[in-house]
Amino acid sequence: MDWGMKNRLARIIQPGDGRAVMLAVDHGYFLGPTSGLEEPRKTVEPLLPYADSIMLTRGVLRTSVDPNSKIPVVLRVSGGTSILKELSNEDITVSVEDAVRLNVSAMALSIFVGAEFEKQTLVSLARLVDQGEKYGIPVLAVTAVGKDMARDARYLGLSCRIAAELGAHLVKTYHCEDFETVVQSCPVPIIVAGGKKTPEVEALQLTYDSVRGGAVGVDMGRNIFQSDSPVGMIRAVRAVVHEKASVDEACKIYESTKSGRARRTG
Ligand code: R5P
Repeated sequence: MDWGMKNRLARIIQPGDGRAVMLAVDHGYFLGPTSGLEEPRKTVEPLLPYADSIMLTRGVLRTSVDPNSKIPVVLRVSGGTSILKELSNEDITVSVEDAVRLNVSAMALSIFVGAEFEKQTLVSLARLVDQGEKYGIPVLAVTAVGKDMARDARYLGLSCRIAAELGAHLVKTYHCEDFETVVQSCPVPIIVAGGKKTPEVEALQLTYDSVRGGAVGVDMGRNIFQSDSPVGMIRAVRAVVHEKASVDEACKIYESTKSGRARRTG
């Protein structure tokens, strides 16, 4: 791995503890104006100080993130579908040259193992890795799960391993029972997606279980920006990932941030 690739990866996975808090706000690429992300700049700005990196599309990056910001960018470069159609029918939507111009730290692409367009997405991953290797940009493979697929260790392990075999430098997947086996059989770091909004304590437990199970951290979106205290939630997630906080301790951080904000605004 060359210096540029290592340096970019070190912006995402913090060299001090080998952990990562990635803020996911790329949902609009197929969901449109998702709840909590209607005005991306308003959502993103207060959260940036607490994220190690941010995952988003180039459209939101250009319009909604200050170029003076030092936040490392994980650029979503796959898409071409909407929630109204077959989700697996994705292609690469950004050239590597544009990713270089945007000074990104990684490029992210979804693979849909077992879905109708499985091959197309896997070949796209391999092509993106070729481009990434050429320019020293790591590739994050997102193991997207089709509607009819189980989010179990067997399926997620299959998807993560295929992503790593095709050259992904980092893999995003879901937490599941026997998550450790997914981590053990994937030779590159795994980061866990938050998934649909759940009560805050559950999302913090998921974060705790993920890092305890061997993930480098979380790539969390809806459980942060749809929370009634997004800053409280990302601070709590950060404490679990980087400061070895327990779920109870993290809940207290969330609650105290939330009530602090309530006092100021009330
Ligand atoms: C899907 O839209 C993206 O890959 C998200 O970045 C990913 O699912 C993480 O976001 P969330 O925590 O909301 O699941």
